[in-house]
Amino acid sequence: MRLRALLSISVITTTLFLLSCEKTENDVVDLQSLPVPYLSSTLPSYDDIKNLSNNPLFRGNPGGQQIAVTDAGAILGRVLFYDPRLSINNRISCGSCHSQKHGFADPRQFSEGFGGKITSRNAMSIANPSVNNHFFWDSRVSRIEDLALEPVRNHIEMGMEKMDDLVLKLNNTSYYKGLFQNAFSSEEITPEKIASALSQFMCSLISIDSRMDQGMKNGLANFSELEKLGHNLFFGQKAMCGSCHSSGNLSAPDFPGGGYSQPDVQGTANIGLQLVYTDNGKHEGQFKIPSLRNIAVTAPYMHDGRFKTLAEVIEHYDNGVALHQNLDSKFRTPQGARKLNLSSIEKTALIAFLNTLTDEQFLNDERYSDPFKY
Ligand code: HEC
Ligand code: HEC
Repeated sequence: MRLRALLSISVITTTLFLLSCEKTENDVVDLQSLPVPYLSSTLPSYDDIKNLSNNPLFRGNPGGQQIAVTDAGAILGRVLFYDPRLSINNRISCGSCHSQKHGFADPRQFSEGFGGKITSRNAMSIANPSVNNHFFWDSRVSRIEDLALEPVRNHIEMGMEKMDDLVLKLNNTSYYKGLFQNAFSSEEITPEKIASALSQFMCSLISIDSRMDQGMKNGLANFSELEKLGHNLFFGQKAMCGSCHSSGNLSAPDFPGGGYSQPDVQGTANIGLQLVYTDNGKHEGQFKIPSLRNIAVTAPYMHDGRFKTLAEVIEHYDNGVALHQNLDSKFRTPQGARKLNLSSIEKTALIAFLNTLTDEQFLNDERYSDPFKY
């Protein structure tokens, strides 16, 4: 009797578990009531997105993504971003690895894809991709629209190698027809439109309301003395962080070809994580210089998620840089790899400054959240 009860409980829990993995058509928030406008008056309009490069915050990032973001396009992109149907076995969505409250990064060192295999790199944060000209840790893609379907096809991430199958699946899902109609004035679903909608959603992920952003407008009046010290160190000669994590996006100096004489390694650097790299990135241990927006919530850090805390990152730059043959010249001295010789107050100050890059409005913005009910 007991056993039978136990068995039926386990059948029920297994069924519940299976059900919870499968999303049915009725488990979406009423999509017609979704249009929390993306480009409302309190947030940047599409023109602002296009003009981000003229925004003093983003000077140095001329931007390259001339993507027309519309409300309806971004809404469709949001649903696609969080829909596990984009994976071959309906288990993994973009949001499984890119979590809003973690700045759209993954708190796990490596992410688990549709079949339980893990990725070989740490999933990156996503913010302000419209001012970015190169994506992925090895900087291999330059247009966000070219990137959008890569994870869908990827054999570890989502495994949806045949785009025709994806189109068929979405055609058989009742809510997509209306969403495509709204976004593209036609119900027809194509891979290009899927990529466009995902790109529109990602380009609507704008983070410009951190304490640093507020501070830039008021001469750092909202900063503590410690945060000011950290800010000055970050952008000064001693710690040199701002020479790579530059401009309002604290990312690579992103002029086409700019700052880096070899266009093929543009926006990347070797920061001496090890003497011999197992993953060579773009070229000889050179990896994308990532944006540090929301960095306090995007741990673990680096392409392989090797550092769990910002303190470990600072220790690396202070004292742990390995003299790799391709180490960036900024980390070289005639005596070998540079040591920053930061005092413990200075290290604490740098971390305090990095903490000012957290944008609570962005991390909690309903328009970026998962529209599916669980
Ligand atoms: C299984 C986990 C996983 C899934 C699912 C996933 N990603 Fe990623 N994402 C990653 C990893 C890992 C990287 C870094 C890959 C690399 O550098 O080679 C990444 C990188 C990115 C980047 C680059 C960010 C930058 O600044 O360069 C973007 C944008 C992105 N993903 C968007 C998406 C979209 C859109 C989807 C859904 C269609 C998606 N991802 C699905 C793990 C995932
Ligand atoms: C020569 C250019 C350069 C300089 C100078 C530099 N960085 Fe970096 N930074 C990079 C690169 C490239 C990466 C990614 C490396 C990798 O993953 O292999 C990175 C990664 C990071 C990360 C992890 C980002 C993430 O999303 O995982 C943090 C945090 C960081 N840097 C902070 C700093 C601080 C603080 C300083 C100053 C003490 C600094 N950086 C100086 C190029 C630089």
